[in-house]
Amino acid sequence: MKILRTILSFILIALLVFLYACNGNKNSNENTSNTNVFFENKKDEKSFESISQNSKNETLVVFFSETGITEKYATVMSDYIISDLCKITMENPYSENDLKEGEDKRTYLEQQKGDLRPEIKGIPSNIDKYKYIFIGYPIWYKKAPRAILTFLNKYNFKNKTIIPFCTSSSDDIDITIDELKENAEGDPVWLTGKRFASRDLLDDAIAFVDSLNLDFLYDDIYLEDEGFYDETETYMDEPEE
Ligand SMILES: Cc1cc2nc3c(=O)[nH]c(=O)nc-3n(C[C@H](O)[C@H](O)[C@H](O)COP(=O)(O)O)c2cc1C
Repeated sequence: MKILRTILSFILIALLVFLYACNGNKNSNENTSNTNVFFENKKDEKSFESISQNSKNETLVVFFSETGITEKYATVMSDYIISDLCKITMENPYSENDLKEGEDKRTYLEQQKGDLRPEIKGIPSNIDKYKYIFIGYPIWYKKAPRAILTFLNKYNFKNKTIIPFCTSSSDDIDITIDELKENAEGDPVWLTGKRFASRDLLDDAIAFVDSLNLDFLYDDIYLEDEGFYDETETYMDEPEE
């Protein structure tokens, strides 16, 4: 009887070990197939990334913006074309008072100085990888802010295409372009720029980018309807006085 019980115990243990091993194999099969799915997904992600990276590596949206209006346009355009985005800031920041209207204000005085190039920060150490450079700025006293000239003077724009855009309360972009061209070495191609009024629809920024027919806009990724933003939120806020 005792022997029989021992044999039965062995059989039971062997059965349990066998069942456990089967279950282990099943799990490991599941893991394998999960891993394959994981790698498949990764592969898809990678090809998606490389599409977006190609465009991203070629395009820079750089802007200067003190009260945030140009920044909104720059951000919408950069999101749309999946570009790098760079905000130029001042080493010696403007105060609220500097930005008020008046011939005794710092902004007014600086804008009168043709050769002033204030120190700026937040910019790339080189722009070698970019083919297209969007440059955005507000109009200040009928000109681009001096910070934009500092930016232009830092690089050589050989073989680059520059797309200027600005925001202003009334003046058009044309009055600022000659000075920009004089300050950009390397004889870049200048596309016709665009001025946005503070109350323009941000959709106009997308329409402007589309109208440029830039080669990367024909990558598959741009042909998809991404529904980038909610139409109910595309009006700019009133600029602060
Ligand atoms: C110091 C200063 C000077 C300005 N000069 C002009 C000008 O000459 N012509 C114009 O149409 N708008 C002028 N504006 C209005 C700005 O161009 C406009 O508010 C712009 O959208 C601000 O952009 P931001 O919010 O990106 O700084 C001026 C604004 C400031 C603060």
